[in-house]
Amino acid sequence: MIYKYYQQHIFPHILNQVMQVPSLMESRAELLKSIQGDVLEIGFGTGLNIPFYQAVDTLYALEPNADVFQLARERIFKAPFLVQHLQASAEKLPFADNSVDHVVSTWTMCSIANLDKALAEIRRVLKPTGTLHLVEHVEYHNNDTLKKLQNLLTPIQKIIADGCHLNRNIELLMLNAGFKFTQKSYYDAEGIPHIGRRMFFARAQKIAQEH
Ligand SMILES: C[S@@+](CC[C@H](N)C(=O)[O-])C[C@H]1O[C@@H](n2cnc3c(N)ncnc32)[C@H](O)[C@@H]1O
Repeated sequence: MIYKYYQQHIFPHILNQVMQVPSLMESRAELLKSIQGDVLEIGFGTGLNIPFYQAVDTLYALEPNADVFQLARERIFKAPFLVQHLQASAEKLPFADNSVDHVVSTWTMCSIANLDKALAEIRRVLKPTGTLHLVEHVEYHNNDTLKKLQNLLTPIQKIIADGCHLNRNIELLMLNAGFKFTQKSYYDAEGIPHIGRRMFFARAQKIAQEH
């Protein structure tokens, strides 16, 4: 009961604050400024990306957690483009095959329970020319101590941060899911504890399926 109260009334506010660390806001600006047209954002959260879209027509804001989405309402109200909320999960996207130009994921892939399924869904709905734009915190490749710590702390992190995994190798999972990268880089974000500081910034397209 206390945990339910925490999840509904406390965690959404913590999320809203933590996700506004200046270094994260800078990454949002860099990732989103060039995107034009209709966008599907998975794990829309509290709507922190809205001010950084410069040429968007309709933003499909997919967010399964109603308590989190509640905190996005004011930002949506002020948005200079249409924002349509979809209360759904990334594992089952309410879009037709090959229909979406842009999918955006900012620090969402850590929290998706079945990421393989979600990546297959993103691959299904993206047009052959479409792009998945992402920035995510990921597993350390080159620091065994921090990598071990990430593995150790992930079960606790999942409880306090709504299913968030500290130890995902997003690049590898995307390669296995049939994506190719048009841009990718790793960096350490300022103002974030070491355990979640390693970031993966990338754009990717789906590899055409062979028949
Ligand atoms: C760390 S928050 C990031 C929120 C937002 N993208 C941002 O940049 O501030 C992770 C988000 O993913 C959402 N999420 C969790 N599981 C999901 C799923 N299966 N499908 C889509 N979103 C999910 C959570 O509700 C939460 O809003």
